[in-house]
Amino acid sequence: MSHPEAKARLVIAIDGPAAAGKGTLARRLAQHFGLPHLDTGLLYRAVARRMLDRGEEPADGRAAERAARLLDPAEVGRGDLRTPEVDRAASIVAAEPAVRAALRSFQREFALARGAVVDGRDIGTVIFPDAPVKLFVTASAAVRAERRWRELADRGIAVEPAAVAVEIAERDAQDRHRPVGPLIEAAEAVRIDTTDLDPEAAFAAALEAVQARIGASA
Ligand code: CDP
Repeated sequence: MSHPEAKARLVIAIDGPAAAGKGTLARRLAQHFGLPHLDTGLLYRAVARRMLDRGEEPADGRAAERAARLLDPAEVGRGDLRTPEVDRAASIVAAEPAVRAALRSFQREFALARGAVVDGRDIGTVIFPDAPVKLFVTASAAVRAERRWRELADRGIAVEPAAVAVEIAERDAQDRHRPVGPLIEAAEAVRIDTTDLDPEAAFAAALEAVQARIGASA
């Protein structure tokens, strides 16, 4: 972009189901545009982790709200947020409207300070309905399950491929059907299906979409 001030406030909203490639894409776009990246899944994961550590039940809405309000942004940097146990618990706490409300201002303030690439489930629909660029990143259920299985295997977490597929399908259903902040594609979002795209090709498609929205000088 030619105007540094406009660039400073550029918000690129990326939504999509589990393991669709949002994170990899968001990091690459952030690097390209010199913007911070906010992975909002980590906020819900950190709330869930805090509850599990305290022996609290993720479905306990009041305890989840308390955990969200007390969340220290430093907890988002914990190394133990991407485990199957936290995957499940994060999706449960994320269905609690009070948790979503408690995390909203952190997300807004983070991105409005300098602009950002923000990825999650309701970024283009609820958190930044006014974002100039919205991407919806998806892939077939089979490919997403395969990617997540590989990610876990690379980190030494052994799980059955079939179990990963079931877990992802359950979590997607939960994320799509909750009454508040469900995963839905914003009408104006550009859809990027990464089923047959490697990270490089997904990045090229996203860059083209961003440039089409904000001008080819980006
Ligand atoms: O990495 P993966 O795509 O599996 O999940 P994530 O983006 O880290 O999100 C973990 C869980 O947090 C999701 O299953 C959602 O339930 C919840 N989440 C949400 O509700 N809203 C967001 N903006 C981001 C995540």
